[in-house]
Amino acid sequence: MEHLQEIAYLIGSVGFIIGLKMMGKADSARKGNLVAAFGMAVAVLGTLFLNEKGFHVIDNIGYILAAIVFGTIVGTIMAKRVQMTAMPEMVSLFNGMGGLAAALISIIEWKHISHVLNEFGKDARAMSSSEIDITDTFSLGLFIPIIAGLIIGTVSFIGSMVAWGKLNGKVGDFRFPGQQYINMIFLIGIIIAAYFTYDAAIQLNDTIIWFYVTMGLAIIYGLLFVFPIGGADMPVVISLLNSFTGVAAACGGFLYDNNVMLMGGVLVGSAGTILTVVMCNAMNRSLTNVLIGMVGGGSSSGGGTSTSGSVREVQATDVAIMMKYASKVIIVPGYGLAVAQAQHVCHELELLLEEEGVDVKYAIHPVAGRMPGHMNVLLAESNVEYDRLIEMEDINSEFPTTDVVLVVGANDVVNPAAKNDSTSPIYGMPILDVDQSKQVVVLKRSMKSGYAGIENALFYDPKCGMLFGDAKDSLQKLVNEVKSL
Ligand code: TAP
Repeated sequence: MEHLQEIAYLIGSVGFIIGLKMMGKADSARKGNLVAAFGMAVAVLGTLFLNEKGFHVIDNIGYILAAIVFGTIVGTIMAKRVQMTAMPEMVSLFNGMGGLAAALISIIEWKHISHVLNEFGKDARAMSSSEIDITDTFSLGLFIPIIAGLIIGTVSFIGSMVAWGKLNGKVGDFRFPGQQYINMIFLIGIIIAAYFTYDAAIQLNDTIIWFYVTMGLAIIYGLLFVFPIGGADMPVVISLLNSFTGVAAACGGFLYDNNVMLMGGVLVGSAGTILTVVMCNAMNRSLTNVLIGMVGGGSSSGGGTSTSGSVREVQATDVAIMMKYASKVIIVPGYGLAVAQAQHVCHELELLLEEEGVDVKYAIHPVAGRMPGHMNVLLAESNVEYDRLIEMEDINSEFPTTDVVLVVGANDVVNPAAKNDSTSPIYGMPILDVDQSKQVVVLKRSMKSGYAGIENALFYDPKCGMLFGDAKDSLQKLVNEVKSL
């Protein structure tokens, strides 16, 4: 019966690792999520009902179970109701809750420690001696996880709330000259306040004021950190804040000497960091560039290719004929597909073409849409077979042998300026080489730019036709036309 809790924690940790690994592939991602959730359930049950000696029900079990039931109901309703386009908002909200939980752990633990230190202080003063040894109760090793959990958790919570507000349009961008320097001053202020908290603790003085000053500065830093970032850059910031939450949770793991909490925190922290770097690389932008807000937020950043000539508008009937009699068609989904919620009708068109003997594939750019895996999630929702979703590196060599490329609400990810215009803000970003194919048809509503705010020379290419309209409506017209041919 010994070490039962440790065994539960081991199962939990292994569940997290296997689950995370399975989430790396579209066809195993759903199961991976369940495996990780199972690991978490075992770890929670182990904490509530086991200890080293065997079965043991934790104190306050009633409150804890009530919180679990309440959280499960709210979380399930939110997850079921959320629109695919609002997914980054929900991730941001959930991430913020993780940061808040980590900060609350630090607050509770610090209240406890400061109470014990106050008692020590009273004894020391009563004995007019400073000889009392506090090392059993308090040390730098104990202080660091608490204060780091407080600072990082608070920044993550506040930053995530601002990100959530920006994504749902309730909070605008807020920038002023020299903001980076002000942020730096606040960061230094946080470190100084944290030092004074520690100093007050070892001097057996009241620490609570410095502790809350540290927290207050972390709140202001969290606001200033996220406010200037363009709304459309939020997925990168959310991923970064997600890694902060992981580190804050890992601090809790250190504090309680809890291996599963430590492991979970480290996995979230490192996965969030890797994802942030991958996203920045896929956009060919540095993290500093994202944080200072050089591109995005719906603003036109100017620069880039100046386009001339005229665009060729095409009709659904012509496009349907082209596709029906093609031998190979590649569909490039983008942000507009998500906005139009056109994934189901897109799949319907794909099935119709396949019935006609056309080889149909989807080309997936790593940052198409507005969140990691956005296109995979949308298309999986409409039951597109996973092996038809081909990553950019693998599909680029197939464009020269493709008869028709159907670009559905995508823009930046197919913009040739990324390859041939060194003045373009997206220069160097890897793109889908759709201009290499025989014919390109772009489904969008107007000639408006995409996320990067720049023109796209592809639309002026003589082999490119523009089918204007909402992506869902245009795809529906194509479905009807293919059926009637
Ligand atoms: P965008 O470049 O943003 O282009 C989307 C296009 O969709 C727009 O030009 C828009 O043109 C069209 N559109 C919008 N609503 C539509 C509708 N209802 N029907 C038809 N078309 C519609 O998208 P993309 O090519 O997917 O590229 C993604 C961009 O987001 C990249 O620049 C990437 O760096 C950035 N980004 C991605 C992520 C992640 S993780 N995916 C994170 C942050 C930033 P109209 O208005 O003319 O219709």
